[in-house]
Amino acid sequence: VPPVGPTPVQPAAGRARVTAIVRAAESADLDALADLLTNCFHDRSGWFGWLHPFFRMGIYEDLRIRIRRSPQEYRCWIAIAGPHRPSTAIAVAPSHALPNELVGTVELSARSSMPLGWNGGRYPYIANLAVRPDCRRRGVAKQLLAICEATAQEWGFQDIYLHVLDDNQAARRLYERLGYRCVPAIAAPWPWSLGRPQRLFLHKRLA
Ligand SMILES: CC(C)(COP(=O)(O)OP(=O)(O)OC[C@H]1O[C@@H](n2cnc3c(N)ncnc32)[C@H](O)[C@@H]1OP(=O)(O)O)[C@@H](O)C(=O)NCCC(=O)NCCS
Repeated sequence: VPPVGPTPVQPAAGRARVTAIVRAAESADLDALADLLTNCFHDRSGWFGWLHPFFRMGIYEDLRIRIRRSPQEYRCWIAIAGPHRPSTAIAVAPSHALPNELVGTVELSARSSMPLGWNGGRYPYIANLAVRPDCRRRGVAKQLLAICEATAQEWGFQDIYLHVLDDNQAARRLYERLGYRCVPAIAAPWPWSLGRPQRLFLHKRLA
């Protein structure tokens, strides 16, 4: 993965307790990344708790292969907590991230699979956006998405895409606010979804 200059994350006004730095993920980050993604995307309650190590193992292996192979149009970024600024350190709650701890991640790749690929060519696709629960609402996801969008443009694309579940209100608000819109023809409910949340396919035009 080509080096990416550290990008400071600007915390939202009034919640400025954590500063973060965004950089390309490395193999040494795999353990922390697998923990973050498993905790953010898999329920630990009841029987699911037993399955947690298996989900984690799958996530770890998938990531390890992607980061090691590092195809030309693939990036995985992480946000890590920066040093606590003396002026704000006093406001840092005990649960907040310590310097250098992983607080967020995102992946970007150029895909050629469905729903737009095969005959439709390649398109940039955002996946695995996640922010540590006690570091949310401080602009970390916004900053990670900004890097994805800038990189997609560097690769020569003018549009960017992602999936979100229709019951994921936090993520839908984030994407809505940043200009992502549903592609209705692709997001139409499937008759065999059996009451499970729908995957909505979102698009943003990169100006
Ligand atoms: C969705 C997620 C990535 C957002 O991360 P985040 O760092 O908290 O998001 P940001 O701080 O950058 O939010 C930017 C804006 O998005 C909107 N937003 C984000 N989370 C929100 C929430 N829970 N409720 C309402 N609006 C929200 C707000 O407009 C927010 O701006 P504000 O804080 O100034 O009001 C995070 O909640 C998460 O990791 N969720 C679990 C994993 C997941 O669902 N990933 C997305 C898969 S598609």
